[in-house]
Amino acid sequence: GMIRHYKFNVVMKETKRLCWSKPIVTVNGQFPGPTIYAREDDTLLVKVVNHVSYNLSIHWHGVRQLRTCWSDGPAYITQCPIQPSRVYTYNFTLAGQRGTLLWHAHILWLRSTVHGALIILPKLGVPYPFPSPHREKVVLLAEWWKSDVEAVINEAIRSGLPPNVSDSHLINGHPGPVPSCPERGSTLKVKPGKAYMLRIINAALNDELFFKIACHKMMVVEVDATYVKPFTTDTILVAPGQTTTVLINTTDGTSGNYVMAVSPFMDSPVSVDNSTATAVLHYIGTPSNATTVPVETPPLDATSVATNFSNSLRSLNSRKHPTKVPMQVDHSLLFTIGIGVNPCKTCTGGARIVADINNVTFVMPKVSLLDAHYHNITGVFTDDFPAHPLTKFNYTGTSPLNTQTERGTRLYRLAYNSTVQVILQDTSMIAPETHPIHLHGSNFYVVGSGVGNFDEGEDEKGFNMVDPVERNTIGVPTGGWAAIRFRADNPGVWFMHCHLEVHTTWGLKMAFVVDDGDGPGETLLPPPFNLPAC
Ligand code: C2O
Repeated sequence: GMIRHYKFNVVMKETKRLCWSKPIVTVNGQFPGPTIYAREDDTLLVKVVNHVSYNLSIHWHGVRQLRTCWSDGPAYITQCPIQPSRVYTYNFTLAGQRGTLLWHAHILWLRSTVHGALIILPKLGVPYPFPSPHREKVVLLAEWWKSDVEAVINEAIRSGLPPNVSDSHLINGHPGPVPSCPERGSTLKVKPGKAYMLRIINAALNDELFFKIACHKMMVVEVDATYVKPFTTDTILVAPGQTTTVLINTTDGTSGNYVMAVSPFMDSPVSVDNSTATAVLHYIGTPSNATTVPVETPPLDATSVATNFSNSLRSLNSRKHPTKVPMQVDHSLLFTIGIGVNPCKTCTGGARIVADINNVTFVMPKVSLLDAHYHNITGVFTDDFPAHPLTKFNYTGTSPLNTQTERGTRLYRLAYNSTVQVILQDTSMIAPETHPIHLHGSNFYVVGSGVGNFDEGEDEKGFNMVDPVERNTIGVPTGGWAAIRFRADNPGVWFMHCHLEVHTTWGLKMAFVVDDGDGPGETLLPPPFNLPAC
């Protein structure tokens, strides 16, 4: 592969949306941020220069970072933040990966405006495993608050209550016309009678989103930079951190404007966000007075639409792209995922919302975990993260249930090349909710999912060991479970967390520490010379 250089100047930029202007943190003054283009096996050198007053770090979401955990990016997990006026150059290879990913800030809530697409094309001369499209387009979904986003989360932390929901969603940086502000949305220009690839990315902070285009079906060909068995659908579901690449065919010999819309999927009783965003698929040559064909997205709680979509995903499992699901498991883990409340004297109502895995609310360290691991610094973390819930309970029973959590910086240790199964079990501690769980440093296979409590004897019989979808972020069903498997073949410290940013803030996170192997090429590389210090 070749070496590609990018420069990210992180600067404030006055930005107007919803007829209201505010300063936001941006990369190179752009919102959304610049798209990174590369090919499989290329090396990326991204020089990040911090010109703002916030501490920074950038994560390359879904990039495996083989042996280069130092470039993964989550603050206090694999690096100390890049402090104001400091520089850090991320240096990593896109080994064996191609498809649609994203990059985003991985500190505070800066991800809300510091994000962009990361497109990895196949190696030169290597075709897609499906017909080549006429053109490729990025469809980047996000959320927008009219007020300062850091103020929103800081107020939530202070009060112990949920943060204000966003004021709108965005498609390629714009909400489209809404009652309070008639601004134009973004437009995708297409020619009739052609195939287009849409690389759809959910960079929203807190909302899983449905996406639909008026009068156009989508053929899903790839998710999270892994190829899937193509299938056709009129609606896709994409959780924060997930990507979905689709092909659409524009109709021959015609013109027109067609609405593309997003709306949130939330089947939890606690959710209220109901806003949509729209953009326009515009056929070149359409008269300017033509009307725009509307589209209706599924309702907020369209669980069956979500389940149907998720169950349609299968890995391609071809000769060139074989599925390599671990058949035997060294570490069999059960992680309960929940939102609870802990006492808090200074909070509104005397309690604060917390979140946990196995009733452990993760406490962020003050120094980098990877640094502590590499240099054997004691007292930063323990490696006793529970493999199973501390106390068993009826996880999806009537709430409230088992809402008290312990605080700790606890990791789970894995030997090099060991195989892992994690049952991600949603709970109704307060209320059941869907959680997009993201693992850094490895893709995993989703070998099963279902509703209610996972039943080891019964549910394992139904696991798909042939063509389970491979991804880096899985939407665990509301009041249900998902089973994932992966091989720990990447030494380092790898964060796992809910990609709903508010849940991460509340503590729904943990990390795996993967030890070095004994062989050549099985060790974490030494830290780069310009790694930021705490
Ligand atoms: Cu896209 Cu740890 O995140």
